[in-house]
Amino acid sequence: MILVTGGAGFIGSNFIHNWFSHSEEPIIVIDKLTYAGNLGNLESLKSKPNFKFIKTDISNKEIITKLLKDEKPRAVINFAAESHVDRSILTPRPFFETNVMGTLDFLDSCKEYWEGMLESEKKGFVFLHISTDEVYGSLKKSEDSFVEENKLKPNSPYAASKASSDHIVRSYYKTYKFPSIISNCSNNFGPFQYPEKLIPLTILNLISGKKVPVYGDGKQIRDWLYVTDHCLAIELILKKGKVGEVYNVGADNERENIDVIKTICNKLEEILPSKSNGGYSRQIEFIEDRPGHDQRYSIDSQKIQDKLGWKSQISFNLGLEQTIHWYIKNREWLENISNTDYKEWILKQYS
Ligand code: NAD
Ligand code: DAU
Repeated sequence: MILVTGGAGFIGSNFIHNWFSHSEEPIIVIDKLTYAGNLGNLESLKSKPNFKFIKTDISNKEIITKLLKDEKPRAVINFAAESHVDRSILTPRPFFETNVMGTLDFLDSCKEYWEGMLESEKKGFVFLHISTDEVYGSLKKSEDSFVEENKLKPNSPYAASKASSDHIVRSYYKTYKFPSIISNCSNNFGPFQYPEKLIPLTILNLISGKKVPVYGDGKQIRDWLYVTDHCLAIELILKKGKVGEVYNVGADNERENIDVIKTICNKLEEILPSKSNGGYSRQIEFIEDRPGHDQRYSIDSQKIQDKLGWKSQISFNLGLEQTIHWYIKNREWLENISNTDYKEWILKQYS
């Protein structure tokens, strides 16, 4: 049995679907169901006897302590977080409440559970904290990719809150020998991602005839990782990772934002030809830049490749095609669950 937090969100739900595609080991999900958490992401699993969902905050020590005692998971994966950079710029507090204090409270509940385990069980237990490459800061084009030894230099409130959580997890290992591992990955994309992030937002806005906002000159670089490749990496870390270690996960897929958007326009033109003259790219609109916008992320994933044998399997092009098809198929459903006006609200706050 493993315990997964944030399982109703994007990466968490993909992880669970992936897990049950080859394993019958039970999973229990804890999720607060914020705007980004959607039970619909787990709909197809609801009648599985080896799947359980509990709606709670990772800070709720009473519920979580009881749950750990009753269910006795052999491992915990902490996906739960406030995850959107733009929101963190406008309203930082929830990011520090969940990503910092929430992680601290949750770690504490897990540490107490681990301390109460039999010595024989203690050895196998692991707490895997899912973090981000944004903790390392921003790179110039000429600089080397992020390695695990890089100093943490977070720039946005989101990145600062995640870097703090990484420090807390590290301190629990160093101080209490609590068996934790941290993974830092690059930008994920794929099905079930809340349509505030660049790729799903671009697809859905293009289809519905809306503008696609490009921050600044669009030349910022992100290092794209298909979500199922990330899920495989997480499973490998769970199975073979060494406690106290950090693993970077990325697929060597650096692209400028404007190229990603243009590629989506071209692919969409083939799948669902645009009705307007000039095609989808006419909907691209350059707008004011994100404050403090990180220029470039780039992950060096040599360590997880060498030590654990991980390798990404899905190319950017294939992943993007699968993602576009998924969003076309699930468009109506997504429009019902997400507040499609939030983006206009966010943009108003910037100007
Ligand atoms: P997401 O926003 O899609 O999902 C987050 C989930 O956590 C939601 O289901 C939400 O309801 C839940 N949650 C939020 N606060 C909670 C709380 N206090 N208690 C319990 N549940 C809570 O995020 P995601 O994109 O799936 O990211 C998952 C993790 O991976 C996060 O920790 C994020 O920082 C990290 N990460 C994401 C990416 C990416 O590209 N999406 C890249 C690197 C790292
Ligand atoms: O690098 C990992 C991180 O990737 C994760 O830790 C975060 O949880 C995740 O949200 C993501 O952060 P980014 O800020 O990189 O992702 P986002 O999709 O918001 O933006 C990607 C790039 O596209 C970024 O340079 C900003 C730009 N952008 C984004 C949006 C939403 C635009 O130009 N226009 C947009 O409308």
